[in-house]
Amino acid sequence: MRYSILSLCLAVAVAAGCDGAPPAHDTPRDAAMAAAEQQAVAEVDEYSYAEPDQVRIDDLALDLKVDFDNRQLAGSATYTLDWADPKANRLVLDTRDLSIEKVVGERADGKWEDLKFSLAPKDKVLGSKLTIEAPQRNPRIRVTYATSPEASGLQWLTPEMTQGKKTPFMFSQSQQIHARSWVPLQDTPRVRFTYTAHVTAPGDAMVLMSADNDPNAARDGDYSFKMPQKIPSYLLAIAAGDLVFQPISPRAGVWAEPATVGKAAKEFEDTEKMMRTAERLYGPYRWERYDILVLPPSFPYGGMENPRLTFATPTVIVGDKSLVSLVAHELAHSWSGNLVTFSTPKDGWLNEGFTSYVENRIVEDLYGKELADMEKVIARNELAEEYKQIDPKLQVLALRPGTLADPDGASSATVYTKGAWFLQFLEERFGRDAFDPFLKGYFDHFAFQSIPTTKFIEYAKANLLAKYPGKVSEAELDEWIYQPGIPASAPKTASPRFDAVDAARKAWLDGGALPEAAQTAKWSTQEWVHFIEGMPETLPADRLAALDAAYQFTGTPNGEIAQRWYPLAIRNGYAQANAAAAEFITRVGRRKLIMPTYNALVKTPDGLKLAEATFAQARPGYHPITSASVEETIAKAKQGAPSTP
Ligand code: BES
Ligand code: ZN
Repeated sequence: MRYSILSLCLAVAVAAGCDGAPPAHDTPRDAAMAAAEQQAVAEVDEYSYAEPDQVRIDDLALDLKVDFDNRQLAGSATYTLDWADPKANRLVLDTRDLSIEKVVGERADGKWEDLKFSLAPKDKVLGSKLTIEAPQRNPRIRVTYATSPEASGLQWLTPEMTQGKKTPFMFSQSQQIHARSWVPLQDTPRVRFTYTAHVTAPGDAMVLMSADNDPNAARDGDYSFKMPQKIPSYLLAIAAGDLVFQPISPRAGVWAEPATVGKAAKEFEDTEKMMRTAERLYGPYRWERYDILVLPPSFPYGGMENPRLTFATPTVIVGDKSLVSLVAHELAHSWSGNLVTFSTPKDGWLNEGFTSYVENRIVEDLYGKELADMEKVIARNELAEEYKQIDPKLQVLALRPGTLADPDGASSATVYTKGAWFLQFLEERFGRDAFDPFLKGYFDHFAFQSIPTTKFIEYAKANLLAKYPGKVSEAELDEWIYQPGIPASAPKTASPRFDAVDAARKAWLDGGALPEAAQTAKWSTQEWVHFIEGMPETLPADRLAALDAAYQFTGTPNGEIAQRWYPLAIRNGYAQANAAAAEFITRVGRRKLIMPTYNALVKTPDGLKLAEATFAQARPGYHPITSASVEETIAKAKQGAPSTP
């Protein structure tokens, strides 16, 4: 409901302030009213046209056909509705690039009637508002529709773009607001629903969803799914392709193309242990199975926490388990995000900050404090870099309404790293004996609910601050949540292993020898990342050649190393790396890994040419989300505007 924000803000501006900061109050009644109003503002989702206070989707029943030839999903979505407001007589849904064929509603007598509907012109970010007239307040409504080949939330791969080269592939990525490009929905995390799906697919493509996938399902082209727990729309997910299963434990396993499944199961063999650690700390895993689907390298993210079926990039399969914190992260979302969900993307930290904190606790428990601390330091260095130039408005945990035009543009340093850092601050002040049960209690208290930051604050004040007085003040809480930057009280993390890397780098920069193989042989991915990240902005090309000769960075199979090496090489005119850099950003579509290379390339005229040529070639294999980011970087560079790192 994008257009009501301003009016809501105006209405409550005097009482609550529209800046998200808590106002001063004269009486407890004022304070209570203001808190309620502040929460109402916090729960307005500016990225959805839906009107969940009028009517809510309780259950979704999908009936879809996967058509690889036309890159289309077509069929129907049937909603079971809860008409919350007695005056409500229309259902407003979010859509993007969908063709809507027909809308029918079930009457009280069980017959279905045609309903009038209108599709508004497309907004670039939000898509098209679909308004369905329902004067009878039908208990069920069905929309018959088809997706566009350009659906922002789907990627279609031809057989040649897969590993097996025989079967086409398709997958969804719904977060933040792309579910609406493949299902007409109330596409806001405020609304949670159960779902079922009947999906048909041609040939021997296996279909999987964020639901009760059966490891033994017959590949007969006809698949049925049930998700009995209520989920928000951004967790709706589907994939189809030549996918096979390998178990890790009775309740966990891996789905992947046949050539990858064995390697993936080996890399992710600690998944069951991760589940047990998380359960010990935060209570039972409530989603029955936990499987991981390994996608083609074009998957635009590292991972996506689709319930019961995490989607993951193959770029973390490096053979030594050094990047499996990604699994810890996506698994952690089973508590932070999927169980307790932000009610709007403004409160992204409730999902990602909590998850990054829990991820780090799992990593510490399984792989030790040294690795957990190195990962913290890498993230915080990245935050420090980002905070040199990003708008202070993006540095607050609970974003003010209207801060972001597109919710995909949030500052990840804030949402992930500042969010996790804040929880680590609380952990240190209260001690794990108090903080761990608090967090477990929080997940339990708000289980299967979607909440704004204000609810967390209320809960933390009652169950932490008031329970253990004198440890953290409300002012400190407010500073972390509503002020930009990192509070001076933030805990510091030391890493002796990184200190050794710093010393080795410095010795070389000061004219000494490069660290010996005996030392570097023990380095993890994190140490290599830190080694490269600490290099100066400028370094002569012959020095880069020396590094490359010693460690073969150019052409590295490790995407985390490639992400740091190629920008350093490009920015310093070390042209020997260009061909491998171009190959890397063509083969991989994971945004985080390849955008730094594009951003480095577009800074010089020759680099810009290489970026454009590479993009032209790579684009058919990219996901729409990655294509959009690359397009924006190239367009900005051409306009002469500074591009973001
Ligand atoms: N939920 C996110 C992915 C996401 C966030 C998609 C916002 C769209 C909008 C997922 O859990 C995530 O955080 N993935 C990270 C990996 C993680 C190890 C930090 C990624 O993809 O880089
Ligand atoms: Zn996440």
